[in-house]
Amino acid sequence: MDLCVVTALWYLVPLYLLVYLLCFIFADADFTLLWASLVGNRPETKLKGLVVWVTGASSGIGEELAYQLAKCGSRLILSARREDELNRVKRKCLECANLQDEDILVLPLDLLERTSHEAKMKAALEYFGHIDILINNGGRSQRSLCLETSTDVYQALMDLNFLGTVSLTKQVLPHMTQRGSGSIVTVSSVVGLAGAPLATGYSASKHALQGFFNSLRTELTDYPKILISTVCPGPVQSKIVHNAFTEELNKPVATACNQEHKMPTSRCVRLMLVGIANSVKEMWIAQQPFLLFYYMWQYAPTIAWFATDILGRKRVQNFKAGLDADLAYFTKPKSS
Ligand SMILES: NC(=O)c1ccc[n+]([C@@H]2O[C@H](COP(=O)([O-])OP(=O)(O)OC[C@H]3O[C@@H](n4cnc5c(N)ncnc54)[C@H](OP(=O)(O)O)[C@@H]3O)[C@@H](O)[C@H]2O)c1
Repeated sequence: MDLCVVTALWYLVPLYLLVYLLCFIFADADFTLLWASLVGNRPETKLKGLVVWVTGASSGIGEELAYQLAKCGSRLILSARREDELNRVKRKCLECANLQDEDILVLPLDLLERTSHEAKMKAALEYFGHIDILINNGGRSQRSLCLETSTDVYQALMDLNFLGTVSLTKQVLPHMTQRGSGSIVTVSSVVGLAGAPLATGYSASKHALQGFFNSLRTELTDYPKILISTVCPGPVQSKIVHNAFTEELNKPVATACNQEHKMPTSRCVRLMLVGIANSVKEMWIAQQPFLLFYYMWQYAPTIAWFATDILGRKRVQNFKAGLDADLAYFTKPKSS
């Protein structure tokens, strides 16, 4: 090989690796998604005018999805159980975006009431005539140790996060296969890819979603214009911990949850919309060091197990001491 080429490689390869490392340190999403955000389609151009059905639109990620989609010019179906909150979100959408009242349908829906989902789908179709995108976002988390958790809580988590989502998806999917196009985007979690203490049931329900949608995608290869996408956020600012299941069905979460270290909801949602606009099949969205864990789980699981065992122990210690378990990654638990 020419000496000049060798010399160039000698300098360029380390430089490339250094740039890659620096990008990774500041990354808050997987590289496919970040690349799409740099050079891909903009949500404002791809999502304008589309009919998007968002579940869990009364709070957190779903609420922010409503605002950003409205700003993109999408027409919206907003669903969750609390109609008054959905109306509040609708009013705010109309304030912040150039949409008319009739562009947003408030459609209260309980994911647990699976027998109602057919009627909800009919109501959505009667109103807009078609659905372009379903965003399965509604769900609840968990904050409890397996040893102390009632089996009813596991049942509730699977009923809500998994079966509720599957049920609505099965209402919308035939409509999309008939039209030959559409997107079904499901908000899973980092714990849909890996495990985490205090979330055995939640993690199981998100793993179930990952398995379901990864398999569904392989069944739909005859429909290249139907996108099945899963979103795996790390910690994001929302009411998720406040609303989480605990040891018993109706027992509220006792500890306050610090939001400071979590990703801003607006950033998470922006990346989600970029992913949807660019047909990204799986999105990892998280700040460091969580993103590093995604990559370790994927490419170096032995190291990931080692690290998560250490951090998991801290998280359990914090929880047992009545502290915010999420801070285990950032602060030392006080001795109880
Ligand atoms: N925030 C995070 O750190 C994080 C990380 C990874 C994944 N996620 C996922 O992101 C999604 C949204 O969570 P979030 O963080 O935005 O939490 P959130 O603020 O608690 O919002 C949850 C939403 O789900 C709805 N919901 C709960 N039970 C429902 C039911 N039975 N039927 C219909 N809707 C129901 C709630 O509305 P109503 O109470 O009005 O029904 C609310 O709009 C969830 O799937 C969660 O697992 C969140």
